[in-house]
Amino acid sequence: MEKKFKRTLVTSALPYANGPVHIGHLAGVYVPADIYVRYLRLKGEDVLFIGGSDEHGVPVTIRAKKEGCTPQDVVDRYHKLIKQSFEDFGISFDVYSRTTSAIHHKLASDFFRKLYDDGKFVEIESEQYYDEETHEFLTDRNIKGECPHCHNADAYGDQCEKCGSTLSPDELINPVNAINGNPLVKHKTSHWYLPLDQYQQWLEQWILEDHKEWRPNVYGQCKSWLDAGLKPRAVTRDLDWGIPVPVEGAEGKVLYVWFDAPIGYISNTKELCDQHPELGSWETWWKDPESRLIHFIGKDNIVFHCIVFPSMLKAHGDYNLPDNVPANEFLNLENGKISTSRNWAVWLNEYLVDMPGKQDVLRYVLTANAPETKDNDFTWKDYQARNNNELVAVYGNFVNRALQLTQKYYGGIVPECGELTDTDKATLAEFKDVKERLEALLDSFKFREALKEAMNLARIGNKYIADEEPWKVVKTDPERVKTVIYISLQLTANLAIAFEPFLPFSSQRLREMICMETFAWNELGSTELLPAGKQLAKPSLLFEKIEDDVIQAQIDKLEATKKANEEAGYTAAPVKENISYDDFSKLDIRVGTVLECERVPKMKKLLQFRIDDGLQKRTIVSGIAQFYEPEQLVGKQVLFIANLAPRQFKNGLVSEGMILSAEDWDGNISVTTIDREVKPGSCIS
Ligand code: 2FM
Ligand code: ZN
Repeated sequence: MEKKFKRTLVTSALPYANGPVHIGHLAGVYVPADIYVRYLRLKGEDVLFIGGSDEHGVPVTIRAKKEGCTPQDVVDRYHKLIKQSFEDFGISFDVYSRTTSAIHHKLASDFFRKLYDDGKFVEIESEQYYDEETHEFLTDRNIKGECPHCHNADAYGDQCEKCGSTLSPDELINPVNAINGNPLVKHKTSHWYLPLDQYQQWLEQWILEDHKEWRPNVYGQCKSWLDAGLKPRAVTRDLDWGIPVPVEGAEGKVLYVWFDAPIGYISNTKELCDQHPELGSWETWWKDPESRLIHFIGKDNIVFHCIVFPSMLKAHGDYNLPDNVPANEFLNLENGKISTSRNWAVWLNEYLVDMPGKQDVLRYVLTANAPETKDNDFTWKDYQARNNNELVAVYGNFVNRALQLTQKYYGGIVPECGELTDTDKATLAEFKDVKERLEALLDSFKFREALKEAMNLARIGNKYIADEEPWKVVKTDPERVKTVIYISLQLTANLAIAFEPFLPFSSQRLREMICMETFAWNELGSTELLPAGKQLAKPSLLFEKIEDDVIQAQIDKLEATKKANEEAGYTAAPVKENISYDDFSKLDIRVGTVLECERVPKMKKLLQFRIDDGLQKRTIVSGIAQFYEPEQLVGKQVLFIANLAPRQFKNGLVSEGMILSAEDWDGNISVTTIDREVKPGSCIS
């Protein structure tokens, strides 16, 4: 049954204030959230859009150590830069605050304390990784090692960025201190845990039964977490940067960043509402059952927003739970994974220096190619094509024709509408249900399709004016031209409304050109938006063609980054410490012939091999599905480690060894083969 809500609270993931924001952030989280919020506001709904910087993460401390400054210096610098970038791109937050604010420290601390007092945590003493040289316990993010799933050598203690698996440090093979490479030992320490296992049943009902409408990627990720069985999660850490644990005897401990960050949504709402009493109390937004909560996030944040944070809210007892969590997949750049450390990104601040005034072009391209259902790729050629062939040739061209002809024939005054022909009626009819179609798409977070629908409106207008050829008809039937221009102007005004959530800067300019004072979603579909006799302002081009040299300059910039990375040694990982021949000879590397190869259901990255190893057939699972079609590998002779202890995957599949493959710094993987056929089972030495 559809619930009716009175107000909507929209949050967007709080970015870590340890670097500038890039197109991946914009495409994944902030543009879709902004489209949604602008749409609701245009409809006249009560909505708040909450943003802010996540300033307590370990990445902040890592950056500070690298730069030789304090964590506070780092977050001050990047909070300012990120806030500015969002403003520049029209991300219309009602509040953009930070988790180092006093309000947040108090609220997060109180939240923890209430759960603590209510006995919602369990205290567990455990052995954690400790660096005996620096005398510190290491957080998950500060530990690096080999991923047990895809064997990426640089997986973090909380996640493998290569295969996307969520990890715990104990799962890493050969864990070391990520900062200095020191080996680690286990020391005893005590922490508070949220017993997620106690929420398992409730979450199963709430997500798997009551929220079947969530996006398949979100629902699927939750389901696999729940299927695997939830375990208690520590919500405190041994660290000196963060919110102190408000319990006696907990000196040297802070709240885990993923405990405090989502509470930042609440604190930032409080900060806003305290400053603007007309918005009502922050508690109404968070606790009234008629308030709806929506989290916009990227796919790497799903578990925290769908499982951990809701369990925290449930444990607290007073709060609403998210109604939907429309998480996006990732955006790649020119076929490579966006990477802050390798500078493989289009940074928002730099984009605006290179492409001044072209915020809407980027917003358009990122929405038209939004990674809503799968990872997508941003390329500069596609950016240029979408600008030139869609924004300029369709939307801009139609609007420009309609406005220029109004100037030329009627001195910029909207002409009278005469009798409608069948074509006029058909064109207007096509317009009628656009509002409904757009609403259905926007309400279900299908922004990419919604943008297509809005563009389709411009296509209808473009076709109409091209078919009617007012510039020709004016010579034979000037009265008829008045009607064509009148209709074209109404379509133009509709476009200003339909595109506002997506392209706010151009909509604003268009509104100024057509002197459209009132502006509301409900007027969409109306054919009487600009009355006859109304004087319009002088038009100018809404979009401009982008020439090849401008695009080439951007491609060259990325090429230069690639080269710089190569020169900085990013082509190859640093050579590991020397080992003895004895150590080497422990590895039994052999040649195997691939007999069968297939994808593993529900495990996107994995290929399952059946290999002839000379003695028998064995199964090996390898995380290279992105790079090969299974049939390409059948018949090949590959190198594999024959004596690696068998490893079991979550779905029960057991891998009896590891196929060797090479990986370049872009993350492209190529399987190792031999250059002349040999007998399966041949040893490598
Ligand atoms: O992944 C990230 O960038 C996190 N800083 C997101 C935090 S979202 C929320 F919980 F604040
Ligand atoms: Zn991995």
